[in-house]
Amino acid sequence: MSYTVIARAWRPKRFEDVVGQPHITTTLKNSIQSGRISHAYLFTGPRGVGKTSMARILAKAVNCQNGPSGEPCDECENCKGINSGNFVDVIEIDAASKTGVDEMRELTESVHYLPMRGTYKVYILDESHMLSRSAVSALLKTLEEPPGHNIFILATTEAQKIPYTIMSRCQRFDFRRISEKDIVEQLKKICREEGIGYDEGVFQYIAVEADGSLRDAESMLDQIIGFGGKYIAEKDVIGIIGIVERDILYRIVKSILDGDLKEGLEIIGRTLSEGYDIHQVYRGLISFLRNMMLIKVCDGIPSFLYIGEEEYKRVSDLLQGVEYYEIQNMLYYLLKAEDLLKGFFPKVSLEILYINLFNLSRLRDVEKVIDNLERRDHAVEQAVTAPVEDFVVRETAPEPPRELNAKGFVEYVKKKKPFIGGVFENLQVQVEQDSFIIFLDKRYSSIVKTEGDEIKRLLREFFGRDMAVVIRDAGQVKKNILDDFVKEAESLFNL
Ligand SMILES: Nc1ncnc2c1ncn2[C@@H]1O[C@H](COP(=O)(O)OP(=O)(O)OP(=O)(O)O)[C@@H](O)[C@H]1O
Ligand SMILES: [Mg+2]
Ligand SMILES: [Zn+2]
Repeated sequence: MSYTVIARAWRPKRFEDVVGQPHITTTLKNSIQSGRISHAYLFTGPRGVGKTSMARILAKAVNCQNGPSGEPCDECENCKGINSGNFVDVIEIDAASKTGVDEMRELTESVHYLPMRGTYKVYILDESHMLSRSAVSALLKTLEEPPGHNIFILATTEAQKIPYTIMSRCQRFDFRRISEKDIVEQLKKICREEGIGYDEGVFQYIAVEADGSLRDAESMLDQIIGFGGKYIAEKDVIGIIGIVERDILYRIVKSILDGDLKEGLEIIGRTLSEGYDIHQVYRGLISFLRNMMLIKVCDGIPSFLYIGEEEYKRVSDLLQGVEYYEIQNMLYYLLKAEDLLKGFFPKVSLEILYINLFNLSRLRDVEKVIDNLERRDHAVEQAVTAPVEDFVVRETAPEPPRELNAKGFVEYVKKKKPFIGGVFENLQVQVEQDSFIIFLDKRYSSIVKTEGDEIKRLLREFFGRDMAVVIRDAGQVKKNILDDFVKEAESLFNL
């Protein structure tokens, strides 16, 4: 078989062949069986998910000589005619190219004639959001008093552009994106039937790239088969659709979690010098972390995610001792940092991005230590100031008034914006009248700068007025904390 035609050769012929739209196929089949056929349908949804295919199946089902039984037989004259596009009573109009008054007039006149060979005349109006104003009003007239032998099927990716007056006269079906899992299964099925072998796990790459469109997935498969012939190897897929190998992404994320900054930068450097694009690495990381987060939150593989056994094992290993919100924070940071990569030095940006992710992940070690330090400081403070006889270590310190409460603010931020809250927890912050003072050290300066507006907004929200943000060098204060931190770290990690 020629490699250019998978999407056409695998156009679903019957309702049961349609992947991933059971809510629609079931309803349509039932209504045909029980003779409750509507005269106007609106099929909406993203591209490449089966709208046009479904319209043709419906056209066959209502005109099938062996029907109506719900499913079309796909063998009679009428079904065959519709498959090949040569059936007089099924009229497909591409509204993107034919939106003129003349075409519409022709159409509206033809609705008065009875079907020639079938039971119904079916008009499939593709890209119907492109219809001109006059075309719409002509169409409306026909929809108002539909002669019983006509069925209109409007298909569009942009339902919001269909005038309400038309929409309200149609029975509407919302098509869904096809899940990664369904895409993978369909591609496997196609390869099995076409006698094409494949490396385990290759279809996952395609499914992620296809982003819900089965047609796009099939086109990619075409390309790959065109390149590799009877066998689909992982490296071909990666090369052709231009994505970064899972193994590389795995090692980058592992370097972050293991605290091996140098290793991570080395991997990134090598990956780029092999010709990978910076955005591919960026997108790959997002997709990898997303999988990790979902697996952590769902405590297993959620049904809508397709992930191979082997990768699942590796991801599970990575996730040992990691909390979901740590992954979420990294993902959140990555998504927000997209603009960074648009600058003149995307390679530098990618490195900074990685280092920031790395620092972000270090927060969890620091968090533990700071927690301990705070508890100890508090106990010492109590011991010094309290008379010996009523010395009790209180669990919580009395709340200072909100006015001066930097700590309260940090806890507030932790809830609202965990990512910024996490950064604050590692810095000394202080409130003085109308100023919020941050004792900044190098590690977090870029984060605090990029989040400047957000920080001001949070301050206003919490203190109920505008606060000036004052940045001071951590200097001596930091050094003391650092000394303690180092001691604490040593005892904690038995260094
Ligand atoms: N739900 C599906 N089940 C099986 N195959 C599908 C499905 N969706 C798409 N395909 C495949 O993609 C091809 C194109 O699908 P179709 O033309 O029906 O999509 P569409 O939703 O009308 O897309 P567009 O919005 O771009 O017009 C089909 O021939 C088929 O190979
Ligand atoms: Mg279509
Ligand atoms: Zn038939």
